[in-house]
Amino acid sequence: MMNMRSSKRKEIPSGIYNSIDEIESVENKKTAQKVVSKLRDSIRYHDYRYYAESNPIISDSRYDELFSKLQELEKKYPELQSDSSPTQRIGSELLEAFEKDEHSSPMRSLKAIHGKKELKSFYDRNLKELNENTVEYSSEPKYDGVAVELIYTEGVFQKGITRGDGTTGEVITDNLKTIKDIPLKLLQVQKSKIPSQLIVRGEVYMEKDSFNEFNEERRRMGESVFANPRNATSGSLRQLDPSETAKRPLRFFLYECTKAMEQGFETQFEMFQKLGIWGFRINRDNIQIHTNFEKLYDYYQTMEAQREKLPYEIDGVVFKVNSFFFQKKLGTRSRNPRWAIAYKFKSKRNTTQLRNIIMQVGRTGQLTPVAILDPVTIGGVTITRASLHNQSEIDNKDIRIGDIVLVERAGDVIPQIIKSIPEKRTGKEERYTIPENCPMCSSNIVISDDKKHARCTNLDCPAQLRERILHFASRGAMDINGLGKKTVEKLIRKHYISSIPSLFKLTKEMLLKLEGFADKSADNLLREIKGCLSDHSLDRFLYALGIPLVGNHLARVLSQNFSSIDKLFGATREKLLQIDEIGPEIANSVVNFFSEEQNLETISKLLDLGISLENPLISASNSLEGYSFVFTGRLDNWTRDEVENFVEKYGGRVLSSVSRNTDYVVVGKDPGSKLNDAEQKGIPRLTEQDFLDLLKKKDISPK
Ligand code: IVH
Repeated sequence: MMNMRSSKRKEIPSGIYNSIDEIESVENKKTAQKVVSKLRDSIRYHDYRYYAESNPIISDSRYDELFSKLQELEKKYPELQSDSSPTQRIGSELLEAFEKDEHSSPMRSLKAIHGKKELKSFYDRNLKELNENTVEYSSEPKYDGVAVELIYTEGVFQKGITRGDGTTGEVITDNLKTIKDIPLKLLQVQKSKIPSQLIVRGEVYMEKDSFNEFNEERRRMGESVFANPRNATSGSLRQLDPSETAKRPLRFFLYECTKAMEQGFETQFEMFQKLGIWGFRINRDNIQIHTNFEKLYDYYQTMEAQREKLPYEIDGVVFKVNSFFFQKKLGTRSRNPRWAIAYKFKSKRNTTQLRNIIMQVGRTGQLTPVAILDPVTIGGVTITRASLHNQSEIDNKDIRIGDIVLVERAGDVIPQIIKSIPEKRTGKEERYTIPENCPMCSSNIVISDDKKHARCTNLDCPAQLRERILHFASRGAMDINGLGKKTVEKLIRKHYISSIPSLFKLTKEMLLKLEGFADKSADNLLREIKGCLSDHSLDRFLYALGIPLVGNHLARVLSQNFSSIDKLFGATREKLLQIDEIGPEIANSVVNFFSEEQNLETISKLLDLGISLENPLISASNSLEGYSFVFTGRLDNWTRDEVENFVEKYGGRVLSSVSRNTDYVVVGKDPGSKLNDAEQKGIPRLTEQDFLDLLKKKDISPK
């Protein structure tokens, strides 16, 4: 077996900028032209290291500075503008419709197989037809995204087309330009000459985590949600406004080059290596070369086992005859090439009956309809529930209680109902309408006109209270161990808690009256609750409060812009809107939250209880943002956890191993092999005292 992991480009090209300090002074148009060109090459190379290789050599802040410098020079010298400049990823031109264009050669589909026997037939047939003892295969993941064709002329990205019907697709060039994994201009390498016309194909996709975040954001904003990352990708590529596509977290893996032999490539492996060097993102970690049949089958099994852990969706593996000469010999029959095959995994979809729809109450009173399903196994996991999001979704998909529905489970994505199957209806199915009263507290439910939001109006609703407390106690928030759903429910039922501050009035006697609590567990929980009053940063506290739309990240942004909670109380909508990442919805949400009597009371009670909110007062000057550290050996003044939390609190990054993008290696007593790594890679080393001096310089007081 051979894999591609070791074939990354290792040398760093000379003649690129790694920091703006290296930029020559620009006195006239001629020097501007030189600097602009070098800046573009540098940014292209840094993009490649960051996106294609996941191995950047400069920090984000240094990159941002280079990028701003290029923007500044292009503005000053508009005559130097170029479409392939890295600043030109997001065009502003709005289209009315997509043009159609024909592919230079058909974009075929792969024959799909589902078993080992079929794989063996494919394998044996190739040996026989090629009259060989062994045949090499390129084993690749089968990405579950959207196939596209990219055309490069003289190394510059000219045109991008969807697969369409295989012969003709839609021209989506401007949308594809917004994807950073797709190079706008190929990287020039000395020996290998980039062909004047290069056509490559690959898959655009969305990573599972980004998809979840993106969908969650849409749900919050009352927009329709996508059933899976593939649909989200396809929808994102079909935006008529490229600036909208630019906001979507799209990625790209290359898997094909047309006329590969004419381009001088002998094998699929060689093609991947070359195109990887020219700037394309190749899935080096998971592409392998095999000859032995059992190895092919092992690959299939391994990838299936790893499927859930991969950050992106795959629905099978692809085996391609590695040699292009052999590919040509085997040829194509009707729609599928005979030199490749897609071995599909078991489906992640299944049908089941929708038994009931219940309403789930969130911590801010938002109500979400949830489908209760007849238990069904999908990819080895039993599914009993799926979110239906809102009334509008239910109506659009015409989902009724009693329907047979198609359910899809994708990795850690919440199970989704793709559609109902009306042909299977018996006539007993019932349409569903969100009730008028909250199922938990019977208060009125308010439904928005577009039927995309439903909310329980009672702030004291026990379900809301339960969710608020659980959120307050959760890991990214106040981190109270042992305060789980069951315990919170029992505490509410017994009327021991009625608000967040009432948590702190719990006594041992109360806890001992709850089923499942004994002396030790009661003491532990009380200690955890009390413990959360000390040493908390403002951002975690803000997050814990559960301000609608304010997740971890925004809580951090707010705490970076307001030195104390008092300042935030007084913040007007206008003031909030001055912050880069805060738009009107979030500003409204924050202002509304702090104008609600009950919320103010909660906060003031918590402050009275003595909750300590040390705001690190992070600002541009006293932050470690953009710095990455590796620690090795024992430090005199900190434990490893302490120092790592400290660095992260001030916006810095702690890496577990030394790479070229490490800024400093801090060396304590009895250092490990990381010291060696630092020496070899030429990464600056700091003693504990140097580290303290660095903090001092940044105006950060240690601990
Ligand atoms: S090769 C002639 N390689 O599967 C075949 N396709 O049914 C050229 N796909 O539309 C395609 N991962 O969207 C190839 N590693 C991979 C792939 C892959 C996913 C998709 C592609 C294509 C479909 C073929």
